[in-house]
Amino acid sequence: MRLQRSEWIVVISLLLLSFIPCVGGTIRLIEVSLGASFQFLPHKPMISAAPIPVQVHLATAIPYCVFGIVQFLPSVRQRHPKLHRVLGRGLALAGIASVLSALWMTHFYVYPVEDQSNLLYAVRLTVGFSMLGCFYLGVTHAMKKSIGRHRAWMIRAYALGQGAGSQSLIGILWVLMAGEINGSPRDFVMTAGWVINALVAEGIIRKMGLNAPDREPFQLGPMPSKMTELD
Ligand code: HEM
Repeated sequence: MRLQRSEWIVVISLLLLSFIPCVGGTIRLIEVSLGASFQFLPHKPMISAAPIPVQVHLATAIPYCVFGIVQFLPSVRQRHPKLHRVLGRGLALAGIASVLSALWMTHFYVYPVEDQSNLLYAVRLTVGFSMLGCFYLGVTHAMKKSIGRHRAWMIRAYALGQGAGSQSLIGILWVLMAGEINGSPRDFVMTAGWVINALVAEGIIRKMGLNAPDREPFQLGPMPSKMTELD
């Protein structure tokens, strides 16, 4: 299938954004599966004590980030609407499983305070429950054929999910400038990753006019061209 230039930009940017969390997550998944015989990333006692939540988190978050990109390509949506629907269902389930496991880890893993302060705990809970809300609204709007709003909520969910990518990039910049990162600066970087992504998502939604109410199906007159591009 031929993608337009603007679609390639979307694919490449989102793959780059996903790169560090997906590679790091894959290495952690291999480590957890092989046990003590392979240790590359820093040892985390809570992961050894309860590996299943992190396994669920990574095994669902990685495909969510990578295959989620396909859902944002107008050519794919137009030419393969069934693929968009089938993949969308799978991705919504993967996204929800990744958030539920993230919430579980946030609440039940016993972190040293330098790994998760009260601020980071609160931010993670806020992001996790917001993502669940985005999935709920995205799915219900799709069922009501309110396509503009469906797209808006799915963009928001994806942007929050991709917080890990922005956090890695900002974290690298921070380390290059300041040498090391832990404690409050780390909480700031984590929070900033999610805030930046949420703001970018709102900018995209506004630019695409997805917040405007969809036309009622029975309304007379031609459908706006934007509607015909969708699903
Ligand atoms: C959907 C995209 C996401 C990706 C690709 C992703 C990726 C990762 C990665 C690579 C890790 C590191 C595991 C390790 O320590 O080795 C991780 C851990 C974690 N993630 Fe995510 N994540 C995503 C979404 C989220 C969201 C939305 C939240 C919060 C609501 C979250 C909360 C956590 C928590 C609490 C941990 C454990 C952190 C720790 O052990 O220090 N993640 N995630």
